[in-house]
Amino acid sequence: LKKLVIAIDGPAASGKSTTARLIAERLGYLFVDTGAMYRAMTFKVLEQQLPLDDVEAIARLAERTEIQLRHQNNQLRVFLDGRDVTSEIRSPRVTRAVSAVSSIKQVREMMVREQRRMGEKGRIVLEGRDIGTEVFPDANLKVYMTAEVFERARRRQKDLQQQGIGVPVDELAREIADRDRKDSEREVSPLRQAPDAIVLDTSNMTIDEQVETIVRKVRSLTGSVS
Ligand code: DC
Repeated sequence: LKKLVIAIDGPAASGKSTTARLIAERLGYLFVDTGAMYRAMTFKVLEQQLPLDDVEAIARLAERTEIQLRHQNNQLRVFLDGRDVTSEIRSPRVTRAVSAVSSIKQVREMMVREQRRMGEKGRIVLEGRDIGTEVFPDANLKVYMTAEVFERARRRQKDLQQQGIGVPVDELAREIADRDRKDSEREVSPLRQAPDAIVLDTSNMTIDEQVETIVRKVRSLTGSVS
């Protein structure tokens, strides 16, 4: 059986993470949420109160930082220098600052190195912004997931509501559009659709349909019928 690398990229809140996790579960693959790694680095920058425009200081800090993803009880947990920061990295403060931190070359180099190491043996689904373009340009399957911005904002609103947080949908749409713009316009490996990626517009798709579509593609690559 081939040991595949599956790359899923796309804009913010397009359902990459949920879909990638479920695909990995179905296939018995490892799931890697690369955004969580950039979020963990951002959390450290904020905690150390470094100004977001101090590129040099952030680059130096990145060299002294260890970010690890661990799978525990069927959950992906994020460790920053040995400490579990899985919930902390989802705060609005981190979300607002993450595009700035992830635009720094040295930060990306460190993350990409770790991501390639995790993917060496294959049987892995990675999701992010630059997986198919930069991290694994030779990935066996590349998917570019997207959805209309208001649909993404509505989904994000629903997630937040479940955590008891109410945010107006247009505010979320603005934040999402703003982050997409920053992630697409940065100099170092910006968010781009790889030329050989399959585009999946999920605006009118359920999670099940998204998972099924991708799993079917993987099966056609491996020749497996189950
Ligand atoms: O997927 P997410 O929303 O958790 O990602 C958070 C941010 O991290 C995203 O706005 C840009 C950055 N990121 C990146 O630059 N490259 C990746 N491969 C993944 C995320």
